[in-house]
This record gives sequence, C-alpha cells and structure tokens, in this order.
Amino acid sequence: MSIQDNFRLAMRRYIYSVSIMSNRDNVGNTNAITVSSVTSISMDPPSLLICINKSSRIHDTLTIGSKFCINLLNKDQEELSNTCSDEDKHEQRFNDKNWNLEDIPFLANAQANIFCKVDKLSSYYTHTIVVGLVEDAKFSDNISTLTYVDGEYR
Ligand SMILES: Cc1cc2nc3c(=O)[nH]c(=O)nc-3n(C[C@H](O)[C@H](O)[C@H](O)COP(=O)(O)O)c2cc1C
Repeated sequence: MSIQDNFRLAMRRYIYSVSIMSNRDNVGNTNAITVSSVTSISMDPPSLLICINKSSRIHDTLTIGSKFCINLLNKDQEELSNTCSDEDKHEQRFNDKNWNLEDIPFLANAQANIFCKVDKLSSYYTHTIVVGLVEDAKFSDNISTLTYVDGEYR
C-alpha cells in the first residue's frame, strides 16, 4: 500500500467531532460545510484553526476579517452533517428550522457555537488553513457530541 493509503487508514482511527462551518459572503449568500478539522490554537488570543479544501464552495468566501461560525453538532444532527457534506445538496443546507439567519448563520440547537473572524489564511497544496480569532462562544449544558470514526458516525 502507498504512504497515502496507510496515512488515510491511520487517520480513520482518530475519533473526530463533527461541526458545520457557516458564514455569509459579501453579497449575503449563506454557506455551510461539514468539517472535522477544527482544532483550538490558544486562549490568548482565543483562536482556532480549520483546514478547508480549496475546491469547496465556502473556500473563496473566507477572506481576512470575514466572520464565520463553527457549530459543533449533536448526536441527532447526522442528517444535517450529511447534507452539508454532499455537493448535490447545496440548496437544502439551510432548510433546517434551527438555523438562525439574522446575521452570521448559526445553528441554535448545536452543542456549541463558536463565532470567529478570519485572522490568517495559510495555503497548503489542496487546502487552506484558516485561523479564526474567537469573538463569542455559546454551549449547551448537556454533552452529546456527534462523533465520526472509521468513516462512520458513532
Ligand atoms: C465527517 C466529515 C468531516 C469533514 N471534514 C472536512 C474538513 O475538515 N475540511 C474540508 O474541507 N472538508 C471536510 N469534509 C468534506 C466536505 O464536507 C465536503 O467535501 C463538502 O461537500 C464540500 O463542500 P461543498 O459541497 O460546499 O463544496 C468533511 C466531510 C465529512 C463527512
């Protein structure tokens, strides 16, 4: 097997928590993409990073200073995760009634909402590493996070 095959299989052993990154572009269109690559960087300043594929629809809307939200999903939001990772379902991504679309789109019933401003963009081959400066964070009282391991939700 190639190094890529072995690397992919090794990475499938990680348990990921599943989030949806959401934003509004500069002409007001909403975007949402399922992501597992969210990692906190530091508390001072409060910051996190996400790795975003350059081929994804949201990619070019992530400009320095633009706002986005990381919505950590609940165990019962598997279907929404599938919708936001299916390139044939762009039109359905904001059908869920729990989206709050007043300003920066966020999922009102998520495990957590982390509101960020893009502080740095670092290109790495197929992906861009997006550094978000955290401006606000909300979280639910009960812990029930949607997880993904070996290509399946758990
Ligand atoms: C559990 C899971 C995690 C994912 N994590 C990422 C990620 O961190 N970064 C990324 O660019 N795509 C990730 N994807 C793939 C995108 O969600 C998918 O390719 C999406 O369709 C791309 O967005 P678009 O259809 O709006 O272009 C993930 C998909 C799943 C199912």
